Parts: sequence; structure tokens; C-alpha cells
Amino acid sequence: MRILVIGSGGREHALAWKINQSPLASEIFVAPGNGGTLEHNVPLSDSDIDGLVNLVKEKKIDFVVPGPELPLTLGITDAMEALGVPCFGPSKACARLEGSKAFAKEAMVAAGIPTAAYGTFQDMEKALAFIDEHGAPLVIKADGLAAGKGVIIAQTVQEAKDAVKSMLGDKKFGSAGNTIVIEEFLVGEELSLLCFCDGENALALPSAQDHKAIGEGDTGLNTGGMGAYSPAPLAQDEALEKLADITVRPLLKEMAKRGTPFKGILYAGLMMTEKGVKVLEYNVRFGDPECQPLLMRLKSDILPIMQACVEGKLKEKNIKLELYPQSALGVVFAAKGYPESYPKGMEITGIEDANAMENVKVFHAGTKNENGKILSSGGRLLCVVALGDTLQEAKNTSYKAIEKIHMENAYYRRDIGDKGIKRLQNK
Ligand code: AMP
Ligand code: GLY
Repeated sequence: MRILVIGSGGREHALAWKINQSPLASEIFVAPGNGGTLEHNVPLSDSDIDGLVNLVKEKKIDFVVPGPELPLTLGITDAMEALGVPCFGPSKACARLEGSKAFAKEAMVAAGIPTAAYGTFQDMEKALAFIDEHGAPLVIKADGLAAGKGVIIAQTVQEAKDAVKSMLGDKKFGSAGNTIVIEEFLVGEELSLLCFCDGENALALPSAQDHKAIGEGDTGLNTGGMGAYSPAPLAQDEALEKLADITVRPLLKEMAKRGTPFKGILYAGLMMTEKGVKVLEYNVRFGDPECQPLLMRLKSDILPIMQACVEGKLKEKNIKLELYPQSALGVVFAAKGYPESYPKGMEITGIEDANAMENVKVFHAGTKNENGKILSSGGRLLCVVALGDTLQEAKNTSYKAIEKIHMENAYYRRDIGDKGIKRLQNK
């Protein structure tokens, strides 16, 4: 099969790497790709739906795997379906679960899925009145896609009002903030639950935990994710099925009932509160960086699983996930200054030394290969993933590997995995 992976992050490098191991794959293209997928790259943006359709026709692609949310919300799956080419991802109608937080909340409530109490607003006066009525803390969210930055945790009423004014008044997030969601602040530990979905059935991947904040101890600005590991001791494998029963399967039922069955990866961002699990958000694709450690643990060939999802045959084909029993932990190597402004074009060295270590894989993200040199071209640059018999061992190996990598103005968190390790020690 000739396969097209769409995107340019660490997730897409990991997807291309995993798909490349499948005996079913004959040739892999990545659009636009990065410094780690050089020999597969096609210079087309992930939002250029017409260009991608032409590429699929021209290169006679048999199967398409979009990585990020943008092409999905723009309807890449519908466009490929119209061509008769299977595409592993939700339709445009289902991608709204990520593309509109108001839609996601409405669908959750319709499906009876536990989530934070909320209100949806377009009118500033009504939003401000809601804040006065409820008091702080509150969470203010831009409805549309805002690259993970459209969520403001307001500890005081004033902060909440300022956030509302910045979104509805000053249009800080452009049209993504024309509608906002204001919701109850939830306390607990976060967990990522990702499921392969075929429209009707959900197959849970092992648990994973992301590290969204830029600073150690989960402090500072939110980012796309600074590191991840799997499994997360917060939810053992037995607990996952139950969590999927509460947070994923009712949504599949709801979307099917609406005539828009969900196929692809449904990623539920969960908050494990004292009162039980609540859904913070849905993503309609693999998480980045969760994807990288998760795929390191996946022993099964990923292509037949993806095909079964598109065909609606997870159950019929009795698809099961075979996993490596080890823990996997990935640390994101970033440019200092991310998620705000940071320099680009810095040379990164030592990647091969890190990659040569046993049980280690370095996935590229914001890098480009210029005449054999790897240069930075983004904020999150690499994800260094290691397998280990324990989470602690995976962490040790991953940090040993990342220390071999050098760049001026590099930054990475040194506490990836610590929450999980602590939880295991306290058991
Ligand atoms: P979201 O994009 O909705 O997942 O929000 C991004 C991050 O903001 C989440 O991963 C949480 O860390 C935080 N967050 C979102 N909603 C809430 C909430 N209701 N209570 C507490 N934290 C939240
Ligand atoms: N790592 C979180 C996300 O991909 O949205």
C-alpha cells in the first residue's frame, strides 16, 4: 500500500515510523513532514486540501493518515472519501468535537457524559453577568481552534472578566473566540484516554499522561505538551475499559444517532476528580506527544487496525492491540522561549548518538534537514522516547539520551514522569 501521512510534528514522524514497519506498506509520503522524515517529504501544507487531493491522485495513494486536527476540521476525510480513498480520521462533521468546544459540550450533555458545568456565550454582557453569578475560579475557553492557547484559567472574578473581554471584545483569538465557553474549574489529575474508533466500537490504547505546562511542577504557560508517558499509574489497564464506557462509547452512540458516526482516534482529555471522571475536552486525533510513547509500546501492525476503523470492522475482524509490556516515556526538546517567541535556525547535534542507544527513539518535530545539518524550525523540536522495564527506568534512559543532544538555547522539562513515579512509590 502507498500511504500518505499528513502533518509535520513529532506525532507524524512517529506515525510514519510505525507505518513503515508494516509489511503492508510499500511507500510512505509525508506532507509536509520534518527533518526526521526527509526522504518521504512532499512540500504541501497540512491545510492544502486541494493540493493533498491532487497528490493522492498523482501518486496513486491507497491510504491516508492525517495527524493534526486542522486538515480534519477542513474536511480532508470527506475529500478523500469522495475520491474513494480510505482516510483514517473523522469526517468534518465529527471533527467539530475538537473544532468547536461549544459543540463538544452540547454533544457530551446529550450523550450523558460527565463534564464541567458550563455556559456558552457570544454576548459580552451576558458572559460578565454569568461570572458575577458564579464567582471564581472559572475556566474561559475560545470555542474554535487556538493551538492549545485558547483556554484561560481565571482564579479571580477580575481575571475571568478580563479573559472574556480579551476574547469577545479584543478578539484575541480572532473568530475562534466569537463564541466562548465558561466552565466550572475542576480539581484533579489529568489523563489522556485514546481509542481507535470504527463508528460503533472503541478499542482503548493504553493510558498516557501529558505534561501541558512549560515549567517543572506543572507551572507556567500551557503548551502543546512537553512530555508524555505510558502507562499512567493513575489508570491501570482494567480501569481503562470502564473509563471508555463512561467517556467515549456514549459519544460514539450519540454521533452515530446523529447520522455522523465517528471513525479514527477519539482522544478524551480526562480530569480524575474526587467525584469521579469528567471530560475536559475531546481531540479527534492522536495527541502530540502522547502518540510517540504510545506507538513505541504498540507491538501490533498499526495499518490493519486503522483499516478496520475506516471499514467499521473493529469487532468483526476481532482486532486486539498487542503491546510491549515496558513503560515508554518521551521528553520534548524545545527552543527556549516556547510557547511564546523563540529563535529558529539553530543547529541541533547529537541526535544520532541518542538514537543509537538501546530502547531509544528520537522523533523530530520542528526541525528541517539542510544539507545534512538538522536545524530548528519551530518551538517543540524533538521528542526523545525510551522504553524501560519500569517508568523510572524509561525516564532514566530518556534523560540519558536527551543529554547527548545539543543546541544553543535549548529547553526541556526535567520532571517528566515524576507524578507517575511518585504514585507508584506511594502505593
Ligand atoms: P482543553 O483544551 O479544554 O483541554 O484545556 C486545556 C487545559 O486547560 C487542560 O488540559 C486543563 O489543564 C485545563 N483545563 C481545561 N478545562 C478545565 C477545567 N474545567 N478545570 C480545570 N482545568 C481545566
Ligand atoms: N498533547 C495534547 C494534545 O495533543 O492536544
